[in-house]
Amino acid sequence: MHTQVGIVGAGPAGLVLSHLLARAGIESVIVEARSRAYCEGRIRAGVLEHGTVDLLNETGLGERMRREGLVHRGIYLRFDGRGHRIDFEDLTGKTIMVYGQHEVVKDVIAARLAAGGTILFESSDVSIERFDTAQPSIRFRDARGDAQRLTCDFIAGCDGFHGVCRPTVPEGVLTFYDRVYPFAWLGILADAPPVCEELIYSNTERGFALFSQRSPVVQRYYLQCTPDEDINEWPDERIWHELQARLVGDDAPQLVEGVITQKGVTAMRSFVTEPMQYGRLFLAGDSAHIVPPTGAKGMNLAIADVAALARGFVRYYRDGSLATLDGYSAQVLGRVWKAERFSWWMTSMLHRFEDQNRFDHKLQSAELDYITSSRAGAQSLAENYVGFAMS
Ligand code: FAD
Ligand code: DHB
Repeated sequence: MHTQVGIVGAGPAGLVLSHLLARAGIESVIVEARSRAYCEGRIRAGVLEHGTVDLLNETGLGERMRREGLVHRGIYLRFDGRGHRIDFEDLTGKTIMVYGQHEVVKDVIAARLAAGGTILFESSDVSIERFDTAQPSIRFRDARGDAQRLTCDFIAGCDGFHGVCRPTVPEGVLTFYDRVYPFAWLGILADAPPVCEELIYSNTERGFALFSQRSPVVQRYYLQCTPDEDINEWPDERIWHELQARLVGDDAPQLVEGVITQKGVTAMRSFVTEPMQYGRLFLAGDSAHIVPPTGAKGMNLAIADVAALARGFVRYYRDGSLATLDGYSAQVLGRVWKAERFSWWMTSMLHRFEDQNRFDHKLQSAELDYITSSRAGAQSLAENYVGFAMS
């Protein structure tokens, strides 16, 4: 088997890359470890930046998103028992879209398959080789268990944080920057009406809570918890009680309970790989960098990476120049580090840390007070949240 760009991983990065390449007449094959149903059912991020929405619309992927996605013009920050709105539209002229990552994944898989694209779901024993030469290849067992070798001109490592591509790069070539946070998020999906028309990020004495949405009848809520939290110790009543307790204050909206349909614990970490290229292997999305979810940057970064990477491939196949591809890592890392900073900052400002003393809490409140009372402060948050233009 041969293709032009061999892609490992059918998450947002690998799928959108394959779609962008196909639009430019460039062939690709995606090798994915999981089944289609698993990829389409994996509940993760939910907020699309302004630029991500534009890209999906401009490349023909936005039809269902425009119908079912929820346009949000701001968010609420709650602290010291009061809510404060950050008005994105007023501060930046832009809005965001609440539309689940798995819905994006469903839309891109459908578009790729309708266009005759190849996604090899349920591949196993995936490994990559010879990517320091002009003829790299991907070895794997197909869904039937037969050994396969896919030769290609380039490999895109879009296989997430736990994938095989990054760890296959020889030791000493890549530099890793890492921070692990002393807490995690317990996330739920619930069949219930929204608590508010926009998202609420709430910093309370009991810890952080986020009230997000998926649709008028399905909500996504998160609670700060310990990294080793046992989900079995969180029966539904305890979750509702804790969510209610982290939505305190006279102006707090009414939380309506519903049926919890999904629960999970997500670890929090910041991680960056530099550079995001080695030979003919290009890393994109979570395989190269992770952000803590506060600020909703993960999927947006993955899509911004592959938009830049696709431009490099288009140039190569148009005029044989590797220049844009060779500049890929330097180009996207600027955006990556801005998102790392923003996610770290939002996380630090909104969570309770065990080693914080009363002085630290006062500083957190002062920072939140500044962000919500100064136009400059609010504008900085808003500009980062809606996202920077894709270069
Ligand atoms: P992924 O979506 O991880 O896709 C990688 C793909 O590669 C997967 O389909 C995987 O099955 C496949 N793969 C892995 N290994 C192999 C292999 N060896 N061979 C072949 N295929 C392989 N971000 C937010 O902004 N907000 C959130 O609330 C949020 N929640 C999250 C919850 C969880 C549990 C996780 C893990 C992440 C969450 N994120 C969140 C981050 C966001 O979902 C990611 O940034 C986004 O999925 C990155 O897309 P990606 O395509 O780079 O990687
Ligand atoms: C969601 C996740 C986030 O990390 C965030 O900051 C906002 C929303 C969500 O899953 O809806």
